[in-house]
Amino acid sequence: MKYGHFDETRKEYVIDRPDTPAPWANYLGSPAYGAIISNNAGGYSFEKSGANGRIIRYIFNSFDQPGRYVYLRDDDTSDFWSASWQPVGKSLDEYKSECHHGTAYTNIMADYSGIHSEVLYYVPLDKTHEVWNVTLTNKSDKTRHLSAIGFCEFTNDCNYEQDQVNLQYTLFISRTYYRDQKILQVINENVVNDSVDGNAVNKRFFGLAGSEVASYCGDKEEFLGMYHTYADPVAVINGDCGNKLNYNENSCGALQTKITLEPGESKTFSFILGMKDEAAANEIMKAYENEKTCATELQELIDYWHGKLNNFQVKTPSESFNNMINTWNSYQCFMTFIWSRAASFTYCGLRNGYGYRDTVQDIQGIIHLAPEMALEKIRFMLSAQVDNGGGLPLVKYTHNPGHEDTPDDPSYVKETGHPAYRADDALWLFPTIYKYIAESGNIGFIDEVVPFANKDEGTVYEHLKRAIDFSMNRLGDNGMPAGLHADWNDCLRLGKRGESTFVAMQLYYAMTVIKYFAELKDDADYIDYINEIQYKMGSTIQEKCWEDDRYIRGYKEGGMVIGSKNDPEASMWLNPQSWAVISGLATREQSELALESVHRELNTPYGVRLMFPPYKEHAFDGALMLLFNAGTKENAGIFSQPQGWIILAEALMGHGNRAFEYFDESSPASMNDKAEVRKLEPYCHGQFTESVGSPYEGRSHVHWLTGTASTCMVGCVEGIMGMRPDFYGIKIAPAVPSDWKEFDITKNYRGKKLNIHVTNPDGHESGCQSMTVNGKAMEDNYILFDELDDVNEITLVM
Ligand code: GLC
Repeated sequence: MKYGHFDETRKEYVIDRPDTPAPWANYLGSPAYGAIISNNAGGYSFEKSGANGRIIRYIFNSFDQPGRYVYLRDDDTSDFWSASWQPVGKSLDEYKSECHHGTAYTNIMADYSGIHSEVLYYVPLDKTHEVWNVTLTNKSDKTRHLSAIGFCEFTNDCNYEQDQVNLQYTLFISRTYYRDQKILQVINENVVNDSVDGNAVNKRFFGLAGSEVASYCGDKEEFLGMYHTYADPVAVINGDCGNKLNYNENSCGALQTKITLEPGESKTFSFILGMKDEAAANEIMKAYENEKTCATELQELIDYWHGKLNNFQVKTPSESFNNMINTWNSYQCFMTFIWSRAASFTYCGLRNGYGYRDTVQDIQGIIHLAPEMALEKIRFMLSAQVDNGGGLPLVKYTHNPGHEDTPDDPSYVKETGHPAYRADDALWLFPTIYKYIAESGNIGFIDEVVPFANKDEGTVYEHLKRAIDFSMNRLGDNGMPAGLHADWNDCLRLGKRGESTFVAMQLYYAMTVIKYFAELKDDADYIDYINEIQYKMGSTIQEKCWEDDRYIRGYKEGGMVIGSKNDPEASMWLNPQSWAVISGLATREQSELALESVHRELNTPYGVRLMFPPYKEHAFDGALMLLFNAGTKENAGIFSQPQGWIILAEALMGHGNRAFEYFDESSPASMNDKAEVRKLEPYCHGQFTESVGSPYEGRSHVHWLTGTASTCMVGCVEGIMGMRPDFYGIKIAPAVPSDWKEFDITKNYRGKKLNIHVTNPDGHESGCQSMTVNGKAMEDNYILFDELDDVNEITLVM
């Protein structure tokens, strides 16, 4: 079933059936002022922290309520509806709606009883308030007398949990006022100085600009009325908000305005919401008296985001690929990059920092679009590397480089809940920093001095050397990196001296990368050292982890093999196979065998399972995924992040058909017409998809904030599209379905424009017969940066 479609030109997803199988969300603003909104206007807003700076209420794990509601009422007939289908929920036979989710804005349109409404929701660029810009148009042939009532439900406490559960307390610290077109909410009003026992005064406002307030309400119960719901508030039924304010109990902001529309006439006004005191609110509201403000602000958002996305665009025979790469996967990459795992309809904002591996991985998704943003975050993550070379598992939002405690300190463990280092964290720096330097050409970055988290400082090169040392100083009994607390797989506890094949491969790859840097630095002794340990590590992995047609998953402390072919459960694991290829460790023959085993044993119509069969009777002590139902998450579910790695691995092998098969199975856009199965937004990756063993095979979960965004992006851009920059230039090595006859790529590469036209007359899945750059024939498919003009016409024949 289909609920919407992609509008590629406007970079929007348009939902024309509002009864979607899940709330389909969009991200507005930034964590400085964050707003999440569904296609039915459900969602919440916060300043700085979803958990501690919550402004409006949203009930988790309930169905998408409350939200940013605009009720509409025909004052001649008393009939009422809402500008988003919910919460009033008129019959879809007579109510038509379209929700346009765009880049940092959402426009919800509706047509009902001859009235066309549009509510454009957005947070202006770099601002900390939100706008609901309403336009009503009379499409009927008679004069209409209407009321529009904007409603938001304030939290009684900035901490969302306290607001939900500590009712003997939080109900009695909030009150509202009405002044000058605004509801003003105050929490802890009596606190005059800084704080009392840690509690400070907090002020919010909900105002109306561009139309007169006819009535208001600041008390939720008064607005809804006893035994009424958001679907039928008495204030809306009566066409009068009653001018009541809240003193104790629940605050809200509700403002009614009366609009008369002649046939064909339109009127526009805006509700503005924020966490500001009255003076600041007045200042903000002034701008919206000017009718042009909203249009200007919307254009700023579009220019900003499209400007970034346009740094890499493709035109291929696959609409689904184009929509993901040109807009939605890219936009999701920016959201994960900026928001980390801060707030969604699943994450309520309780995490008090950045996960090391997640954040370093997230960076990879935007490097080809905004290397300058990547640089800033890379510096930050390097400053969260401990002087022993390991990463802080959790980097606090208050991170203070040079002065942090570490997993070696009980204080860190107590505060973050992370008991120990993880084996993989700092190893993610290698692909990320390599990709950044190759994209930007900023080779000097490796000499930049960055502090360590706890003490001292060193060049980026030194930071990377210490990351290698961290693993080399903690080897297990077989000579591979010790498992420590966990590797990429949070559920896999191999024990402190257990050993993960995946991490060993990451380390092997890291050694290759650091050699490139060592060559730049003429660090001959170090190259010798790395050659020696890399050879040894490679031989160990080959000797200890290769088994006929697959790599095992690792060794548990004490020597038990995990992921052996003959194990009754979990005998085949995805990541050691994809990473055997990505790391450059496996021979061609091993790669072919391992990838074939993946396809044979793990692939499904909805993507590749993380492992199989699921644990049930034979889990080892430390296989925490056993706790999940079969076919779910790490227990033989289709964990989405590794889909990107298997796409990349297949593409690196030149297997375009396979790479694309894996893209297509797991791509949200490819499931657009089966939305009732997938349930999640067809424009955004989730954390995982349920697989064989679940009665809901194909259903996806945990929208938006997932490492999947970046790995799939890399799998598609570096893998399928074959964009492989290095320090000196770029290789163009697409691996695509053999039935693609031609496709185009435009790329901004270090300020130079590349217009790449690829043809595939003989139906290959990879390879290059010939390439020209600005008419000049090249020797192969590599272009030196120095040979590029400002604008370059590149043709490649596969
Ligand atoms: C979640 C975690 C991530 C971990 C993955 C696999 O996505 O955020 O850190 O690697 O699960 O367990």
